[in-house]
Amino acid sequence: MSDNFAAGPIAFSVVTYADRYLDGVKALWTESFSETQTTPAELVIAAKLAIQPDLFVIATAGDSVIGSVMGGYDGHRGWLYAVAVLKSRRRNGVGTALIREVETRLACLGCTKINLQVRPGNPAAVLFYEFLGYLVEDRVSMGKRVHGLSA
Ligand SMILES: CC(C)(COP(=O)(O)OP(=O)(O)OC[C@H]1O[C@@H](n2cnc3c(N)ncnc32)[C@H](O)[C@@H]1OP(=O)(O)O)[C@@H](O)C(=O)NCCC(=O)NCCS
Repeated sequence: MSDNFAAGPIAFSVVTYADRYLDGVKALWTESFSETQTTPAELVIAAKLAIQPDLFVIATAGDSVIGSVMGGYDGHRGWLYAVAVLKSRRRNGVGTALIREVETRLACLGCTKINLQVRPGNPAAVLFYEFLGYLVEDRVSMGKRVHGLSA
């Protein structure tokens, strides 16, 4: 599945992840998540490719990876992870196109509610998601490592 966009001053495509995009995704995540991502990108990607690989969506401009999002659906809720756009390509609608695409794919699976987490100190991300219709909800976020990946 691929959609082409010419939003703002740049043209880009939104496509399902494929192996040829590995280096581009690694560079994107290094730029966007180097302070928070502890699990090597190769492991994160391999795990995602084993489960719902169609929910791993990237944006490309020419041969370059410029954005990413990973979705997941557990049969009750959808979740978003790894939402990032290259600094040099932000504010051009790329993030919006990525989220809209994964929202559509989640809805096709029967998902009716999508959740996500934003780390403290990232007000820009909150504004971005609010722009897309997401609301800050009164919840306590909890987690527990059980085994394997620590992404
Ligand atoms: C958040 C992020 C993915 C947004 O990507 P993007 O391609 O720039 O987003 P869009 O161009 O689609 O922005 C859509 C709207 O969201 C809002 N928005 C996006 N970035 C914003 C910012 N830094 N400050 C305020 N509002 C912002 C604006 O309303 C924007 O519309 P506008 O540009 O016409 O004003 C990008 O800034 C990013 O990669 N950040 C670093 C990684 C990150 O924090 N990811 C989220 C983890 S939870």
